Order: sequence, then structure tokens, then C-alpha cells
Amino acid sequence: MEKFIRTSTCGELRASDAGTAQTLNGWVHRKRDHGGIFFINLRDRYGLTQVVVDESADAELATAALELRNEYCIAVSGVVRLRPDSMKNPEMETGDVELLADKIVILNKCAPLPFQIEDDPSAKDELRLKYRYLDLRGNSMQKRMRLRSEVSFAVREWMRAHGFYEIETPTLVRSTPEGARDYLVPSRLYAGQFYALPQSPQLYKQLLMTAGFDKYFQIARCYRDEDSRGDRQPEFTQIDIEMSFVSRDDVLKMTEGLFSHIFKQCLGVDIPKEFPRLSYNEAMENYGTDKPDLRYDMRLRDFSVFAAQSGFEAFKAALAAGGVVKAIVVPGGASYSRKQIEELEAHAKIYKAKGLAWMKAAEGTGFEGGAAKFFASKAGEIMPAIGAKAGDLVLMVADANRRTANVSLGAVRTKLGNDLGLCDSSKFCFTWVIDFPLFEFNEEEGRWEAAHHLFSYPQEQYHASMEADPGAVKGDLYDLVLNGYELASGSIRIHDPELQKKVFKIAGLSEAEAAQKFGFLTDAFSYGAPPHGGIAPGLDRLVMLMSGDSSIKEVIAFPKNSFAQSPMDGSPGDVDDKQLSELHLKIVKPNPS
Ligand code: AMO
Repeated sequence: MEKFIRTSTCGELRASDAGTAQTLNGWVHRKRDHGGIFFINLRDRYGLTQVVVDESADAELATAALELRNEYCIAVSGVVRLRPDSMKNPEMETGDVELLADKIVILNKCAPLPFQIEDDPSAKDELRLKYRYLDLRGNSMQKRMRLRSEVSFAVREWMRAHGFYEIETPTLVRSTPEGARDYLVPSRLYAGQFYALPQSPQLYKQLLMTAGFDKYFQIARCYRDEDSRGDRQPEFTQIDIEMSFVSRDDVLKMTEGLFSHIFKQCLGVDIPKEFPRLSYNEAMENYGTDKPDLRYDMRLRDFSVFAAQSGFEAFKAALAAGGVVKAIVVPGGASYSRKQIEELEAHAKIYKAKGLAWMKAAEGTGFEGGAAKFFASKAGEIMPAIGAKAGDLVLMVADANRRTANVSLGAVRTKLGNDLGLCDSSKFCFTWVIDFPLFEFNEEEGRWEAAHHLFSYPQEQYHASMEADPGAVKGDLYDLVLNGYELASGSIRIHDPELQKKVFKIAGLSEAEAAQKFGFLTDAFSYGAPPHGGIAPGLDRLVMLMSGDSSIKEVIAFPKNSFAQSPMDGSPGDVDDKQLSELHLKIVKPNPS
């Protein structure tokens, strides 16, 4: 092999190399046969170089050239020559030159391909995952992996420059399920006992603060057994960060600095030095979601005053029940057909809206169609109040439950943002969402639970009233939202063991249960734990948004499919009886239903 090892990569040769002898290694990208003269585009991670086998080739070389197929892995030796002016290819970085081959060695053949390398639009997701190593050979996947690598380097560079230590935490941990289900690992040495794979390094990073490390980060693998979605994988990566002796604003500022560096370094993009802040309440009232996409406005308006003055009984009933009527204005939406509006209504109903009322704003006449008869007489007042103009469509949801009205109309807003092409992936609109409620009521289980996790600090003013009214407690919690995705979550943490126990109690953990699950944490807090706080941006979501993708699968080298399987290696898979018995396990298969 030694003499076939490359002297240059396929992206490297330029006019100044003309006349030099070179060896290239790579894959046959395309081969063209011009009646005995072969043009071969040879590809590697760095680019493409055109290789020529012309009539001067000896029999051995000509035979090798004839035999080549796409994706054969080869070594080519030859002499670099300038292409004639008419044959230069300005689209290719190496387009001024070609390598006139004098020897081709086939290093490995390639079986018939399941799909064409390089963005074959007909390649189905499942096939791409089964042959992921081929999918990854394509230019667009190579670019994504490079971006991901650049982002990781930029994170490390910035963190190091700002005094953070990178510390690894264990991935075989105690099971303390909160939120998602744990992935469990059976213990061989202790029959019937299990490790869990961490859902995040949360507890460990807090213990590192207790240990005095002050500023910690880790590019950490996390595992959650939950249903996959475009922005969720069972196994994913967080840029996990924790700091001691900081306020909320210190953490937000640090994060802004980190993101400025990442975007500048990896995309050459300047993002704002400070991100706008919305309270959770403002986000819900204006956008109907705690992760609003701010690339477009279309905010929700309170329509209750106009509804109250109208004769629209359904609206008035919602108000009488203590509810609200909310509206959004779809710019240019007056051209929507009945069918399009019905589709929007069906979407609102997924989010429990009882209906979606509508009317069109028309030149001169005020409102038309749908609910117009109730509001047409007041069009002059309503239009400026909700920001509607002739040609727009007004959509309204009334509900006795304020949250239902906001969330369902918010979902319509998000759908419209996509349908109207308002989601320009080259725009990056960050926002902080702050002042989240600390607890949420779990209707199914009839108990309060932590809205984020159990370790976030209740804002000072709620400490005394916390147990009497958990629903009112705001936490020192913050989410970073980018283009409608929750990119990061974090909080100032509890460091006082007594306060921590109080929060456990409100979340329904008995003293014994809290001691058994989290005793090691409250114990640690009793040894002079410093005040601390942190945040964890999702690396996969970040790279997905930076590369303009809509699924994190695209930026993970070997992701799982939407059924949490890997079609390539067949995981999860059976294990043999010996392994099971060593782990003291017996499988009880569910009855086929
Ligand atoms: P949280 O659970 O909000 O917080 O997660 C933080 C960030 O991790 C990313 N993320 C995911 N990415 C891909 N697939 C998933 N299944 C998935 N789940 C979460 C998101 C999310 O914003 N320990 C806390 C952080 C802290 O308080 O410091 C935590 O894990 O981008």
C-alpha cells in the first residue's frame, strides 16, 4: 500500500502544481467514457479532482479505467497538467488542472449502490439510515458533520478562554426518572439492580459545584426513552454548563457570549450581542407557545373587548365562563379558500379549540364572510386595534380556558408561519423566555410536579407562600429559543437542603422517597454547597438550525429512526440466553394483540 498513499488530497491541486507527479486516493464519483478516453472525478473529504486516462495509456491502465465503477476506492498516480482554457471548470476548486493518470490501483470495489451518493432525492430515510456510511459520503452530509465538528471546537475554545473546566460525568448512574423514561442497564454483579443512562448530567454538575469547580462544561451524551420527533432523539448531546456564585443574568450573558462566538466562528454570522427577553406569560399571551418563532410577527391579540360588545353568543359564553377571545391577523389571507380555512380549523382543534371563527377584511366594506356580521359595524375601530388591513384574514378562538385559546391559536400561527414561507432558515431569531412557573399540575396523576426539573430555585418572593399556592410560584428558570425551537434550558438552582426538601415535598415525594432518590444531593448541599446555576443547550438542535435542517437526524452521524431503531446495525437486538442469565434476567414477551 505504501507506494499508493496519497501525496495530495482531491481538493488540493492547483495550477501551480502543474508538472508535478502526484498520487491521489479517493472514491470514483463519476466516470465518463469518451470513446477510450476516460474522465474520472475522484472524490474525498476535501473535494474533487478530474483524472484523465487518455490514448497514451498502456493496456494495464486502460483495463483498470474500463473496470472502474462509481464508489470504487482507488489510488491514482500521474502528472498534474493544466486543462485547456475551454475545459477549465470554475465551479471546481481544482478546476484549472487534471491528473493525467499513469497508474490506477483498485483498493476496493463497490457493490451495486442502494442509492446514488450525493443528495439522491429518491433515497428514502430508512434506506439512508441502513446504509448510513454511504449517505455520509455525500457532500451535504460531509458538510453537516464538518459544521458539527466546528461547533464543538468553537464551544471548547470559548469555554477554555473563559475559565471553564471540561469534566466528564458518569454515564452509568442511579435511576431517578423525572420527565422522560430512563434507559436501564442491568447489573451483572447485583442481581435485580440496574444502572440508568443519564437523562442529563444535572445532579453531577451540581455536585461539581459543591466540589468547588466553579465553572464546568461538558459536551455530554444524554439518553431519554421518549417518542422520537424531528427535534428529539433517544440519544442526544448537550453542551452542559454550570457556574457558581452567579445570578440569572450572569448565566444569560455567558450564553449570549458563547453563541456569538459559535455563530461568528462557524458561519461568519454576527448575531445580536444581547437576546430579547420575554416572560413566560408574555410568550403565551402573544404567541401561544413558550417557544415562539420570532422570524415573523403575527402575534395573538386580545379580542375579548370586541367580543363582549358583539352579539356572537359562542364568544360571549366563553367570556362569561371566565375565558378569553384571541385573534390573529393573516396578512393577505383574504384570498384563502373555505377549504384552507377549514384546514386551519382542523389544526386548531388538535390543540383542543372548539372552533376557529374567521372574517375577511375588505376594502371599504369592513369585514366579510364567516363571523363578519357580528363585527362589521365596528370594523373602523377593530382593524387598527388588531393591526388588520384590507386583504387580511382574521382568525379567532374563544375558550373558557385561557391557555386552550392561546395554545390552539398559537399552533395556527406556527402552521401559518410555515405555510406562508415566513421561516427563512438563514435568519436567526433568538429570544430568552424567563420567569417560568416552577410547578405544573399533572391532571392525570392529580399532583403538582416540577415544570422543568426539581432543582430550580423558586424566586425569593414565593418562598413563604410556596406550599399554600404552588401554581403561583415562578422559578429562576430560563429557556433559550431560536426560530421556534427550544435550544437550551437552565436555571439558578436550589443550594439550601431545606428548601430542596420543601420542593420535593410539593412535588409529591415522601421524605423517605426523597432521601432514597436524592439523599446524596441534599447531603452534599449540607456541606457548604455554593449558590449556583447553569444551562444546557442541545448541540444537535443547534447544528440543525445552523445548517438549515428541520430534523436533528441530519446532523447526527448515526441516529435512530423514528421507532428508536438503527436499521444499520439492527439495534435494539436480541441477546443470547447466556447473557440474560448472567444478568439475572428473564424476558416476558407481551402477548401479540
Ligand atoms: P432539558 O431537558 O430542557 O434540560 O434539555 C436541555 C436541552 O437539551 C436538548 N434536548 C434534546 N435534544 C434532542 N433530543 C432530545 N430528546 C432532547 N431533549 C432535550 C434541547 C433542550 O433545550 N439538565 C437540564 C439543563 C439545565 O437545567 O441545566 C436539562 O436537561 O435543546
